[in-house]
Amino acid sequence: MPSGRQSWWQRAVLYQVYIRSFADSDVDGVGDLRGIVERLDYLDWLGVDALWLSPVTVSPDRDWGYDVADYNDVQPGFGGMAAFDELLGDCERRGMRLIIDLVPNHTSDQHPWFRDSRAARAAPRRDWYIWRDPNPDGSPPNNWRSTFGGTPAWTLDPATGQMYLHSFLPEQPDLNWWNADVRDAMDAVLRFWLDRGVAGFRLDVAHAVVKDRELRDRPAGAAEFVLVDLDETFAVQRRWRKVVAAYEPERILLGETWVMDLSRLAGFYGSGDDQLHLAFNFPFLFSALEADALRRVVEETEAVLPGPAWPAWALSNHDVVRFPTRMCDGDERKARAALTALLTLRGTPVLYYGDELGMPQAEIPRELERDMAGRDGARTPLPWNGDWHEPWLPLGAGVAGVAEQRDDPDSFLNLCRRLLARRRSSADLQDGSYETLPAPPGVWIFRRGEGTRVALNLSDEPAEVDDLGGRTLAPWESVIVES
Ligand code: GLC
Repeated sequence: MPSGRQSWWQRAVLYQVYIRSFADSDVDGVGDLRGIVERLDYLDWLGVDALWLSPVTVSPDRDWGYDVADYNDVQPGFGGMAAFDELLGDCERRGMRLIIDLVPNHTSDQHPWFRDSRAARAAPRRDWYIWRDPNPDGSPPNNWRSTFGGTPAWTLDPATGQMYLHSFLPEQPDLNWWNADVRDAMDAVLRFWLDRGVAGFRLDVAHAVVKDRELRDRPAGAAEFVLVDLDETFAVQRRWRKVVAAYEPERILLGETWVMDLSRLAGFYGSGDDQLHLAFNFPFLFSALEADALRRVVEETEAVLPGPAWPAWALSNHDVVRFPTRMCDGDERKARAALTALLTLRGTPVLYYGDELGMPQAEIPRELERDMAGRDGARTPLPWNGDWHEPWLPLGAGVAGVAEQRDDPDSFLNLCRRLLARRRSSADLQDGSYETLPAPPGVWIFRRGEGTRVALNLSDEPAEVDDLGGRTLAPWESVIVES
């Protein structure tokens, strides 16, 4: 049985709920918080321990909640604060934790802070955002680019003749994290939700909150769109860590750390217990489903993370193509192997809603597209079997729904449930060390703790594995063996 040495968030399996597409209680075609309440039995049955909710806060939805107009209230269409408190209470009764998305990098242009900031050069909150004069020829103050569209990250506000910075849409102005009042204001937002009882935050754009103070040009050929002051970003994370550390039981910071270099990823953990609790591993998410590639990412992660740091693994999220399509060519055997890897590594796995069904990326006809960045195919409604009425995005094809899969012991869903149960009942899988074991080409074998071995045949050939007593693994078969 689990040793009990770890914190809840190290033992937990997290489940990302994209609210608009999870479950719709008021039949308006958009998922909502009471919809989640109605489906908590399902999530309990599946065996997840904590939910990460996509933004619940008030938003004009230019970027589907990631443009926040009020940090301290809940989107009316999701059921408002009453529904949120209901969900929180129900989760608490079940011992399930609720983590919310927090967007500290930018607000909506409709946020009162920005309305004030743009009102005049001398406005009290002018310096809460990043304003500069354009060059004399009208061009932007530097060569930074916005993530959506790659257009200049600066927009002119004719009323005051200055430009403001936006790493994303013009409707998402970046906050100025060099301003002490901004830091205080966001601390208050954290405390507002912590006092209400959330278990922590998934921090949006955690890797790029503080910009270069001098706003210097990005060097030619730079991969980044804007220049980030990483040390100062880490300093802000240490500050947030102190805010959450004042709460019992333990609350966590889970960072969207979109970096492809693992030694850089390690930096977000600080000394191991003074910055983020968990930092998403994007090199793993974007790896090919190949034994060598995955093994390398995991070994390097294990090697570079500071002592007490704990990895966080995911295969899908609301910004990327779903893993059965991106990584597995729609082949269910491959998706089963990928899921088995996700749920047996050392660290906290994060499932994206639909992952448990093996749900592929949906094809969205052009006239039904909603997202300006083409991400709708990863955000379609969870197929419950018959429970959506005129949903905001069409249901994807190519996957059996929840009710159907629940009744089939061999379904992807039941595999996922069994893996979660296995993990929960195994001290090795929950907190045992990771060690690569020798394996034939195309096969990845690792030991967890003292007595558990996981063998994944990530190839089209059968593989004979000495270490498993000469057992032969079928193409794409995986096994978990306790000795
Ligand atoms: C993060 C979110 C993404 C959003 C962007 C801007 O990357 O995950 O959905 O569009 O930040 O807030």
